Amino acid sequence: MYSIKEFNTFNLNILVKDICLLKNKMDLKKNILFLSNKKENYYFLGKGSNILFLENFYGIILINKIKGIKIKQNINFWYLIVYSGELFSKFINFSLNNKIFGLENLANIPGTVGSAIVNNIGAYGLEIKKFVYYVKVLDIYTGLYCYFNNFNCYFSYRFSIFKSYLYKRFIIIKVIFRIFKKWEPCIFYKDLFFYFNKSYRIITPLKIYKRVVYLRKLKLPNYKIFGNIGSIFKNPIISIKKFIKLKYIYYKYFNNIKYNYFFKYIRIPAALLIDICNLKGYTIGKAQIYIKQPLIIINMGGAKPLDIYKLLNLVKDKVFYKFNILLELEIEIIKYNYIYNKFI
Ligand code: EPU
Repeated sequence: MYSIKEFNTFNLNILVKDICLLKNKMDLKKNILFLSNKKENYYFLGKGSNILFLENFYGIILINKIKGIKIKQNINFWYLIVYSGELFSKFINFSLNNKIFGLENLANIPGTVGSAIVNNIGAYGLEIKKFVYYVKVLDIYTGLYCYFNNFNCYFSYRFSIFKSYLYKRFIIIKVIFRIFKKWEPCIFYKDLFFYFNKSYRIITPLKIYKRVVYLRKLKLPNYKIFGNIGSIFKNPIISIKKFIKLKYIYYKYFNNIKYNYFFKYIRIPAALLIDICNLKGYTIGKAQIYIKQPLIIINMGGAKPLDIYKLLNLVKDKVFYKFNILLELEIEIIKYNYIYNKFI
C-alpha cells in the first residue's frame, strides 16, 4: 500500500493499492481502459484539492500529469488550449505573462485545469465557465475521444455535468478556453469594488491579480502548512421571504447583504451562517473550523478523515437547527459503498 499524502491538499495519510502517474493522453487511455475492463477500483485525481477520502482506498489512484499550453488567436479572441493536468494557477500566470487578460480574478486557486472545469470554480465575481469554449474528454465506455461545448457542460454554480455520477465516465483531457481580446475589469465583488473605488486607482489586470492574491492569502490558509480543500459547503440559495425573516432576527449580520425585491431567491454566504452559530475555531481531533473563514476546515497536523467528517456534519446540523437551511457539500467525498461493492 502507498500513501497519497502528497496528492491531496488536506494532507491526509490515505493508503491506496497503487499510484500511477499519467504523463500523456495515450498513457491515460491505456491505463483507464485496462482498469475498467478488469473491473478494478480506480480514481482519477488532479491535485486532490476538492476531495475527502474517508478511508483507505483499495484501488489504483491515477494522477493526472498531462501538461501543455498552446496559444491561438483570431481578430477578436485568444484561444488557450490547455491540458487538464496543468496547474490552474500556472495557467492563470501563463495567460497574464502572455498579455492575455480576463482571468486575473481566478488567480492562485489550487487544483488542476481539469478539476477547475469539473467544479466550475469561481472567485471574486468570475466563474471559469465564462471562458470555456470546448472540453475534450475520453469516454471510458467506448474508448473514444469526444468534445463537449460550453452549453453541453451544463455549468452552474460549482457544478458541471462532469460532477454528476452518470457522467463520471468522461475524463477531461484538455480544455479550449476562449478569451475576448477587449479586456474589461470585473470588480463588482465587494472586496475588489471597495478597494478600487475608494482610492480612485487606475485598474489594470495586474493590479486585480495582485489584489486577489493578497485577499486570498489573507483569508485562505496555505495547504502546505494547514491542509485544507477550500470551501467545504456551497453558499445556499433561500427565498427572499425567508431572507427578510432572517434579516429581521439577525439584523446586525444580514444588514449588509443587498437584495432585489423582484427576485424570488437569493444566495447567502454559508460562512456567515456558520459564524453566527459560533463555530469558528471549533475543533474535533486535529481538524478545526478555520478562524478567518469558517467555510474552511483545516488539518492542524495528523487529522483523521473521520475528524473532518464529524466536523462537517456538526456544522450542517447546527446550521440546520438554527436556520432551517440545509448546507450542500461543495467537495467530493470518497467512501466504500457496500451495496455497489465499490468506492463512490
Ligand atoms: N463571512 C462571515 N464570517 C467570516 C467570513 C465571511 O460572516 O469569518 C461572511 C461575510 O458576510 C462575507 C461573506 O461571508 O462578506 C463572504 O465571504 P467571502 O468573501 O470570503 O466569500 P465566500 O462566499 O465565503 C466564496 C467562494 C470561495 C471564493 C470566495 C471569493 C464558495 C462556496 N466559496 O467564498 O471559493 O474564494 O467566495 O470569491 O462559493 C472555494 O470554492 O473553495 C473557494 C475558496
